[in-house]
Amino acid sequence: MTKPYAEVIGDPIAQSKSPLIHRFWLDRLGIDADYRATRVAPDALAAYFADRAADPAWRGCNVTVPHKVDALDHVPDPGNVRGSIGAANTVFRTADGLAATNTDAAGFLSPIAELDLTGKPVVVVGAGGAARAVLFALSKVGVGPVTLLNRTPLKGAALLSTFGLKGQALPLSARLPSAALLVNTSTLGMTGQPPLELDLLPLPADAIVYDIVYSPLETGLLTQAHERGLDTIDGLDMLVGQAALAFELFFGQPAPREHDEELREALLG
Ligand code: ATR
Repeated sequence: MTKPYAEVIGDPIAQSKSPLIHRFWLDRLGIDADYRATRVAPDALAAYFADRAADPAWRGCNVTVPHKVDALDHVPDPGNVRGSIGAANTVFRTADGLAATNTDAAGFLSPIAELDLTGKPVVVVGAGGAARAVLFALSKVGVGPVTLLNRTPLKGAALLSTFGLKGQALPLSARLPSAALLVNTSTLGMTGQPPLELDLLPLPADAIVYDIVYSPLETGLLTQAHERGLDTIDGLDMLVGQAALAFELFFGQPAPREHDEELREALLG
């Protein structure tokens, strides 16, 4: 029988860091399985899932751009991903067949699991696909008012309402309120994109600045937060967190997170 395998699908796919992460964990656990990257064009998505559903060696896939929404047309959605986050990042096998889920929200929360954010004010920058997972997660932990900064504030207001969050949506130029946590979910600060320019001065000394961008790892936002002496969380933490949850769904064992430092070095190398 062919080796068990999982994969990440997208178009393009060469940039994905998922193979490195999953292979690192497979290797550490001595599991004889593969994890690969497969380019799937949008018009080939239905055929892809039909093919893999019939392949007993296939354990599932991570789903990235541009398939995160469309995957839900081809796979059962028992966790109501479409109705909540609106996009899937993981498809896996269950006793009943294939199932779609989204591990981004839990992956986002994993580095801040120890914090008590109940009722605390939070700032979120961005209102795209990544913001949906972050706002969904924040709604589950019962944060206080959310100030959502976005180039298009109307999109931000719609998302606050979708996730039942109190707060307001403002343009990127608005002055920051005091907040326990600031999260950048926008593409600003990513390699090749304009920087995210915020004045962090209104944040208190114990605020945490979390940038989910991981390329580059040290964004201008995080540099500014470091200069202010604020605690920071970078995008690799969320990337590894969401991957760990998918890994367990694919291979039935928890990811060996005790090797995180070595994994980070491998991802940066
Ligand atoms: P993702 O799925 O990674 O979240 P996305 O859905 O394209 O990507 O969302 C990108 C986010 O970055 C949005 O909040 C977008 O602002 P708009 O909602 O106004 O489009 C923001 N963004 C991208 N490029 C930007 C730019 N040049 N200036 C300001 N905001 C930008």
